[in-house]
Amino acid sequence: MSRLPLLFLASAALCLVIGVTMGIAMGIAHDFHLAPVHAHLNLLGWTSLALMGLTYRA
Ligand code: HEM
Repeated sequence: MSRLPLLFLASAALCLVIGVTMGIAMGIAHDFHLAPVHAHLNLLGWTSLALMGLTYRA
């Protein structure tokens, strides 16, 4: 795989790990102050970056 899609997909995976960990932590702590950060990390970070990586790959 060329470098650009790989960079997008690796960044997406990193955002997913951080975003999902935040979601689990928010649920455990019952503290939802950071819900918008979680939502943007997952939707913009994971979903959008992964879509861009797959599009460049195609
Ligand atoms: C193990 C995985 C996940 C856990 C445990 C989790 C947990 C949570 C929690 C606790 C909230 C706050 C709910 C509230 O404010 O009452 C939340 C909100 C949200 N999550 Fe997740 N989440 C997970 C994965 C994801 C993923 C993969 C996405 C998107 C691709 C996502 C998108 C959102 C959005 C859009 C909100 C609404 C934020 C808001 O209302 O401000 N979550 N999640």
